[in-house]
Amino acid sequence: MPYTASNNRYATMPYPRSGNSGLKLPALSLGLWHNFGSNGDYENMKAMCFTAFDHGITHFDLANNYGPEPGSAERNFGRILREELSAYRDELVISTKAGYTMWDGPYGDWGSRKYLLASLDQSLQRMGLDYVDIFYHHRMDPNTPLEESMMALDTAVKSGKALYAGISNYDREHTQRAMEILKDLKCPFIINQSRYSIFDRHIETDGLKAFAAQNRCGIIAFSPLAQGLLTDKYLKGIPEDSRIKTDGRFLHAEQLTSEKLAQITALNELAKSRGQSLAQMALSWILRDGEVTSVLIGASKPEQILENLKIIGHTAFTEEELRAIDAISPAK
Ligand SMILES: NC(=O)c1ccc[n+]([C@@H]2O[C@H](COP(=O)([O-])OP(=O)(O)OC[C@H]3O[C@@H](n4cnc5c(N)ncnc54)[C@H](OP(=O)(O)O)[C@@H]3O)[C@@H](O)[C@H]2O)c1
Repeated sequence: MPYTASNNRYATMPYPRSGNSGLKLPALSLGLWHNFGSNGDYENMKAMCFTAFDHGITHFDLANNYGPEPGSAERNFGRILREELSAYRDELVISTKAGYTMWDGPYGDWGSRKYLLASLDQSLQRMGLDYVDIFYHHRMDPNTPLEESMMALDTAVKSGKALYAGISNYDREHTQRAMEILKDLKCPFIINQSRYSIFDRHIETDGLKAFAAQNRCGIIAFSPLAQGLLTDKYLKGIPEDSRIKTDGRFLHAEQLTSEKLAQITALNELAKSRGQSLAQMALSWILRDGEVTSVLIGASKPEQILENLKIIGHTAFTEEELRAIDAISPAK
């Protein structure tokens, strides 16, 4: 039996606009960076996508290089789309990106027009799509003129292969310049995808968060749980089923310093006093002031998505709670 989505899927999720665009994103989005590659379990991938969509998570975030191996997350998601979700395509916002190393030789990396447009074609093919909803330049390229990368995004949109343009890992200064170029091109630029969590507040110190709010540019926050550090799972050692153990590419045991563990312990106590898990408090904190459009979670099992969804309606903080978080993990 093919999957049928829950009739209640739009009952609770808020859908703020991304910047001043017409596109609304779910307050929680699901990213496929981990657990959707060739080493993942296909039934678990499907269960996570269904759990998400059944609860109003309409936005699924990918990139050309998500795996391992690069491309495999798009291939697996494409299979789920084809076999289970095709009836819901117009209810989904699917994004992909190019900017990191993807194929051998001088044309499979960074921000040239040649790379970005070829990569988008490959992504569409892997996912079996005619278009993605958002196409991102994945990182700033110091050696390619910004105009060239932005014109490639514009071409992607004007050729109908993407509906909206986005940038990722761009700092405040380059976000402003990219916005100006895309505005001149009349290209619908809607969002910057940035790392943001209680443990990584660089978009506050760099001014990007305030700039985006003032200029009505969407922000989607990735790694909001610092890849799982902002949960209670590492308080009693390193569990076998945690990212540190199952996929050590980007999160290592060495990051769990005694200082970090002390911060996690203090934050966990604060979360308990709010009646939330640490994961829930960390996600709520991202959405606390309405300046971030969507919080982009990852998950290794459907139960985590269900736990994280419980923040809906509980993202307010008292001044005292915010001061306590600042004291434990200041913006610096
Ligand atoms: N643009 C970029 O450069 C960029 C970079 C990184 C990520 N991203 C995007 O952001 C998405 C999210 O990044 P992320 O995976 O690092 O996000 P994250 O939300 O910080 O970490 C997700 C991991 O935390 C653990 N977790 C989640 N909910 C939990 C819960 N309730 N209780 C306990 N553990 C929980 C799971 O790991 P376990 O395996 O330990 O269970 C899960 O895989 C990616 O999929 C991708 O779409 C973008």
